[in-house]
Amino acid sequence: MIKPENQILVIFGASGDLTKRKLLPSLFELFDRDMLPERFVILGVARTPFTDGEFRQQQKENLKTFLKGGQPDEQQLERFLEKVHYLGFNSDQAEEYPVLAEKISALRQEKDIPDRLIFYLATPPQKYSTIATALQQSGLSRPGRENGWRRIIVEKPFGSNLETARKLNHELRAIFREQDIYRIDHFLGKETVQNILVLRFANQIFESLWNRNYIDSVEIYAAEKLGVENRGKYYESAGALRDMIQNHLMQLMGFVAMEAPSAFDADLMRDEVAKVFRALHPLSVNDVIRGQYITGKAGEEMVPGYREEKGVAPDSATETYIAMRFFIDNWRWGGVPFYFYTGKRLQESRSEIVIHFKNVPHRLFSGICPHSSCNELVLKVDSPESISLKFGLKIPGSFFEVKQVSMNFTYNSLCNTYIANAYERLLLDAMQGDSTLYTRTDALELSWRFIDPILKEWEKDPLKGLTFYPAGSEGPEERKWLLHCNL
Ligand code: BG6
Repeated sequence: MIKPENQILVIFGASGDLTKRKLLPSLFELFDRDMLPERFVILGVARTPFTDGEFRQQQKENLKTFLKGGQPDEQQLERFLEKVHYLGFNSDQAEEYPVLAEKISALRQEKDIPDRLIFYLATPPQKYSTIATALQQSGLSRPGRENGWRRIIVEKPFGSNLETARKLNHELRAIFREQDIYRIDHFLGKETVQNILVLRFANQIFESLWNRNYIDSVEIYAAEKLGVENRGKYYESAGALRDMIQNHLMQLMGFVAMEAPSAFDADLMRDEVAKVFRALHPLSVNDVIRGQYITGKAGEEMVPGYREEKGVAPDSATETYIAMRFFIDNWRWGGVPFYFYTGKRLQESRSEIVIHFKNVPHRLFSGICPHSSCNELVLKVDSPESISLKFGLKIPGSFFEVKQVSMNFTYNSLCNTYIANAYERLLLDAMQGDSTLYTRTDALELSWRFIDPILKEWEKDPLKGLTFYPAGSEGPEERKWLLHCNL
């Protein structure tokens, strides 16, 4: 593999949770597999004043806690930490940016790194536009030399509705070129999600069945056992629709429903996803069931309801669960219902895509299949990642009685294959200048356009239609309405 060019990664929000849990562990993994640039600096910036040494010490402890797969080699850790630097400064204050510019320039000179910078905004979203504007005012948003470049990675949530997303896009695009803006959706970095494309477009057997003639319905699940943890304050302003549907589940659906691009190129790929989003049938509020967890039993333990969580209003109307049904108005998918299910504090964690194929035209045998047809393709996105193809076979010894069986492929059966986590993959892509797995402006705005009418309806009457489900259950009973009401 060709390593990325020498560059500096500046992380805003370096003392935060994302940096310690995801960014630095992923960067360490890349370093450990020798995939980082030859000359590379990670410059963490945040308000707290630390020396490089103090920051490194703190991150060393964090790495030991958050690196998956055992304790890292001490010497490798030290070598990695040599690349990590820190600057304590207030990113809200435009007048402080010259200090950042000086620090970057000193590091570039010392390490002999060209004028290539990635800014990673791992800060609260309210700061994105302030930081981008201050980068522009200080001249940091523009490369000075011919072989220089700038890239900016922005975390979700990207806006809170169509209007704010548009505004933010407008502000960022006035400063950075579209191809230099990397809107991250970590689901797209998951190996299994990328594999949807390979499964579909490298295999004639699936792709020829991948349409309304053979597919009965598509279900996409992202169910979690955990509650909102310590993110109550953020979650109050988000809810499941913004937190999971507008980004992660929409992107999964885009990969499932898109046409094959003519080449595997960032823009051609993202054109196809945008076309799917453009073809979405407008949602009606009746197609969306929302729920909130109340106290219940998670495993053996009684856990509090959402309204009792830290940072959550006691009368909160924020949804922690969504089940919804929708259609794509195009030739391939006309009439095929798609379902999203996502929620917190559910009975089991489950991230998967289930393609239900149509039943045979005439049933010859009796038997048990959970759905009307025996044929399903299940793409399991969370660990242990797998793909299962289900079909009906005769129960041995019985008369012609059919049972659903499953042919399974699990990724961990591929020995010696390291499965990189989503952030590793996406960070590496951004360092390489490959934005294929990042969200483009049009798709982002189209996804907001899709859910905006629902958000507006709920704003008018925050409690209308809000259902409740006990923690540890499968979600509100009302979710079943979607399956049974007329199409
Ligand atoms: C995040 C959401 O984007 O994705 C969280 O904000 C959610 O609420 C998480 O828990 C799920 O991601 P993963 O990779 O753990 O399935």
